[in-house]
Amino acid sequence: MTTSLQPAESHGFSTRFPLNSAFIFTFGALGGMLFGFDTGIISGASPLIEADFGLSVSQTGFITSSVLIGSCVGALSIGALSDRFGRKKLLIVSAILFLLGSSLCAGATGFAMMVFARILLGLAVGAASALTPAYLAELAPKERRGSLSTLFQLMVTFGILLAYASNLGFLHHDLLGFADWRWMLGSALVPAALLLIGGILLPESPRYLVNKGDVRNAFKVLTLIRKDVDQAQVQVELDEIVAVAAQDTKGGVRELFRIARPALVAAVGIMLFQQLVGINSVIYFLPQVFIKGFGFPEGDAIWVSVGIGVVNFVSTIVATLIMDRFGRKQLLLVGSVVMTLSLAILAVMNFVGDVAALAVPTMVLIAVYILGFAVSWGPIAWVLIGEIFPLSVRGIGSSFGSAANWLGNFIVSQFFLVLLDAFGNNVGGPFAIFGVFAALSIPFVIRFVPETKGKSLEQIEAEMTRR
Ligand code: GLC
Repeated sequence: MTTSLQPAESHGFSTRFPLNSAFIFTFGALGGMLFGFDTGIISGASPLIEADFGLSVSQTGFITSSVLIGSCVGALSIGALSDRFGRKKLLIVSAILFLLGSSLCAGATGFAMMVFARILLGLAVGAASALTPAYLAELAPKERRGSLSTLFQLMVTFGILLAYASNLGFLHHDLLGFADWRWMLGSALVPAALLLIGGILLPESPRYLVNKGDVRNAFKVLTLIRKDVDQAQVQVELDEIVAVAAQDTKGGVRELFRIARPALVAAVGIMLFQQLVGINSVIYFLPQVFIKGFGFPEGDAIWVSVGIGVVNFVSTIVATLIMDRFGRKQLLLVGSVVMTLSLAILAVMNFVGDVAALAVPTMVLIAVYILGFAVSWGPIAWVLIGEIFPLSVRGIGSSFGSAANWLGNFIVSQFFLVLLDAFGNNVGGPFAIFGVFAALSIPFVIRFVPETKGKSLEQIEAEMTRR
């Protein structure tokens, strides 16, 4: 099926908003920054909130994990909505939820209000985590889709780093009479406002538009974001999208299970493994590991996590550069091997060695583990859930993948400190368990994960539905 369209007219997106693609991809990925910020910020803020509100340890734990519950629900509910109303509208809705949640968190007067606000924030984080990867994948040209989709994870790691910086910067500074933790949580309003502005200016996804029969505007958006290619090539790309969309049936959960089961298995599995290798034990709890396990003072321990945050961010920059050069599967396998080895050495060392002398080697091995994760599983899991589902169920499919991610995150976050305690604060215990999951991820990738590098979304769709 072909379409014959005229070039975008003067009143199209392109002239109304003279956006360039760098702006579109950066703002499109901003949801990732809020994801990183809002999950990372609580590590520094929670002990302060605990003291201020006089909370029990389990109440504080619930303030941390309530955001993950909200995220799971947010991720699950956003998919069907985004297939129906479009990616852009829901990005705007999630920005509004981010603004509301952050304001309520910063102004919370007690435990119940804080939990409510964190759940609201979680809804937004979950929504952004399902929406953004699909939105970026749908806008990107196939040769650069890996790198451009990796921008999401780059923003996540940047958000985590900003959160650590905000924790350090506001600690013990009750500016204008407001407690330090209120500033930490309130500082999320800035990226949330940027996301709202971005959401209003960004174009709708061309693939969503085609799916809704609006081929004309899809052409306009494609012309806008493919400024470097001529219109004939844009037309070829559009024709492929239109042809595949024409064969698609109506999306829905039943349809997802009927036509996209291999994609669903790959997405859910990859997301669970991404979490069960224990990444967030490091991102959320590293200061506690060094305080409890190695007797570090709190200030030093926070600096260790800042260092790890930097390694995470810088390695993710490397990932954006190499993503479209190596296959996704290849990188995942390299990451799994690096993580398995570093976790295994770390565990054995902490079981047999003299723990007092192991703080620095442990730090180094954690840095190697983070590097392994950041160039592979960190970005690729999110890249893949935007790529592997057929268009008609892409929103709902990435919702399921993202919800699995939040579920895995919740499990690790809930049990890590308990596990650490059960092993007498020896970090070797929980890290050995994470190492087993890292090893198990190898056969999983070989058997269930498709290679998507360099293929158009339509090609991937044809292959995945044939499997
Ligand atoms: C990935 C994970 C997230 C983790 C982050 C760390 O985005 O999904 O849970 O916090 O990487 O960089």
